[in-house]
Amino acid sequence: MEKLRVMELFGGIGSATQAFKKTKIPFEIVDYIEIDEFAVRSYNAMNNTNFEPQDITKWNKDIEVDFIMHGSPLSRF
Ligand SMILES: C[S@@+](CC[C@H](N)C(=O)[O-])C[C@H]1O[C@@H](n2cnc3c(N)ncnc32)[C@H](O)[C@@H]1O
Repeated sequence: MEKLRVMELFGGIGSATQAFKKTKIPFEIVDYIEIDEFAVRSYNAMNNTNFEPQDITKWNKDIEVDFIMHGSPLSRF
């Protein structure tokens, strides 16, 4: 079975990724966008990944995703 290509926006420590793991659906996180470096460090530690902090307002990648999940801040986006 092919893995679902998932992207997490405003990922924080990655509660959406943790929840997705419980679905047992094979997936890979193709990108994770979070500006706070400490949250990114936590996410990487929990998911064995190597993401860098990224600002969504500057994000400009050309990638294919099947599923986007997010929990954006209410006031700005
Ligand atoms: C409501 S919280 C999401 C929490 C996340 N679902 C979790 O499990 O930790 C919103 C997140 O958006 C991040 N954020 C705010 N502005 C951002 C920006 N310009 N680019 C990327 N992330 C941003 C904040 O640092 C914060 O972690």
